[in-house]
Amino acid sequence: MSLAQVREWVGAARRLAVLTGAGMSAESGVPTFRDAQTGLWAKFRPEELATENAFRANTAHVWDWYAMRREKLKGVAPNAGHRALAEFALRHPGRLTLITQNVDGLHQRAGSPDVLALHGNIAQDKWLDAPRRCCTAQPPVDGRPPRCAVCGNLRRPAVVWFGEMLPVDVLEAAEAAAQACDLMLVVGTSGVVYPAAGLARTAAAHGRMVVVNPEPSDLDDAAHVVLRGTAAGLLPQLLAHT
Ligand code: APR
Repeated sequence: MSLAQVREWVGAARRLAVLTGAGMSAESGVPTFRDAQTGLWAKFRPEELATENAFRANTAHVWDWYAMRREKLKGVAPNAGHRALAEFALRHPGRLTLITQNVDGLHQRAGSPDVLALHGNIAQDKWLDAPRRCCTAQPPVDGRPPRCAVCGNLRRPAVVWFGEMLPVDVLEAAEAAAQACDLMLVVGTSGVVYPAAGLARTAAAHGRMVVVNPEPSDLDDAAHVVLRGTAAGLLPQLLAHT
């Protein structure tokens, strides 16, 4: 089965869902999550940096890792794949549910409405511990990370760390879309992190599920079709004609 077949499914789908992962942004120049450990960071695995325990134990170190990733994002832009998704959603209001594991905000910057960001947004901070009155009474004091001048509560990136719950409302909306869609495109994810990967399996059980990835992924076995290609290369071809 081929690109033409999937394009036909896209055209026929009354409800389309798209689940994206780090590979979606690779052609924008954002390293994928499991490739992001370059240079100084090469010896750390994401599972050792992106946890509450890691942050509490090595606060400045983990903060600096996020600061490095935020800095890199300033210099990148959405690619043709992000744009194809945003343009499709605007042409077909209410037909596409876009679910992303990415925290880079590139779908939103491309103009996609109502993105279900399962893992949060790296551009934002939140309080590490439940904020007390002193935390919100005045701006946090600068530092790595910034902190409450009175009680010392720390700011942390507003992303979902390993071992944390996903935002319940976002996950529920994503699960509903996975069950209701006729077709889900699963783009640029290794499919190893749950519950996100489970959404693709749910979609495959209820309708059709297509993987778009230049490399093998853990979701290939469940896919009705695997398209070996990139997000920026294939999404415009799949979506632009509908
Ligand atoms: N187009 C499409 N897919 C691509 C491209 C591309 N141009 N380049 C790479 N890929 C694929 C890789 O083959 C790989 O399967 O993108 C995938 C990236 O996998 P990961 O780095 O594991 O990213 P992801 O699946 O999003 O990780 C899931 O894990 O660490 C956590 O919270 C983090 O959201 C992240 C989650």
